[in-house]
Amino acid sequence: MAKQKVVKFTVPATSANLGPGFDCLALALNIYDEVEMKLSDKISIQIKGEGEKELPKDENNLMVASARRLFFEAGKPFQGMEIKLKKSIPVTKGLGSSSAAIATGLFGANELLNSPFSRDELFNLASHMEGHPDNAAAAFYGGFVVAWRQNGSGKAVSFSPPSDLKIVLAIPDFQVYTVRARSILPLVWPKEDVIYSLGRACLLTAAMASKKSDWLRSACSDRLHEPYRGQLIPGYEDLRKMGMEAGALGVNISGSGPTILTFATRNLDKIQKIMVDVFKKNKTKCVTVVTKPSPHGVKLR
Ligand code: HSE
Repeated sequence: MAKQKVVKFTVPATSANLGPGFDCLALALNIYDEVEMKLSDKISIQIKGEGEKELPKDENNLMVASARRLFFEAGKPFQGMEIKLKKSIPVTKGLGSSSAAIATGLFGANELLNSPFSRDELFNLASHMEGHPDNAAAAFYGGFVVAWRQNGSGKAVSFSPPSDLKIVLAIPDFQVYTVRARSILPLVWPKEDVIYSLGRACLLTAAMASKKSDWLRSACSDRLHEPYRGQLIPGYEDLRKMGMEAGALGVNISGSGPTILTFATRNLDKIQKIMVDVFKKNKTKCVTVVTKPSPHGVKLR
């Protein structure tokens, strides 16, 4: 076992759904966890930054569980590892922190074993572990992704979004667990709502592929999950309405929330202020971050 090998890499935050693309569209963001990993005979985890207090530092850590899974798939015994994580991705805020943890464990362990698996195979494994392929696709491939399942496997295509596209994140000071945000969704949807979201998901993909940021104005609206999940976010309707009035191209729940992701090419200060003000009016604190898409997924540094 090559105990001394140290792998250093970064993993991006991701935002899934982007409004109408429930479980199939996502974007990698220019916010990264920085990881150093090496094999050891025990588990040792150091975390600095986001989640440093609440994340488990033992077997129960998702990075470790994912690394262990990779070793199992490779038919190798797993004893332990040392992980140093500088974490910038907020935890349970709808910014893909669980996908990042899974990507960290799988990618790092794969590197330490001299890459028995391809990136496509790692993504497939990650999408199974997470239960939906969208965040995992963005975490592995970067850019804008369309993700789906085919014959039981996770599949994805990735391409660059418009180069002028900026993103304002409004991250409120409460958490929404994806399991809960999925449990409140209906089992069946009215045909009109499905057609409504399908058309917009296609338009959103066309906007990204054709580099037409303006088309997002009509695309970023959903009837499959946002009307239900919006109820978990104080001021949701006003955030959308006033964000658009402030010049946004689209205002949506990031992943399963509670972060609000706004697409814009300008008016970034105005949009940030609106988000803070509306949340404040609804007795909720939030921080805002201006970012942009990440062109790459998990990668060595
Ligand atoms: N597509 C998933 C959902 C993303 O909306 O439940 C979770 O981050």
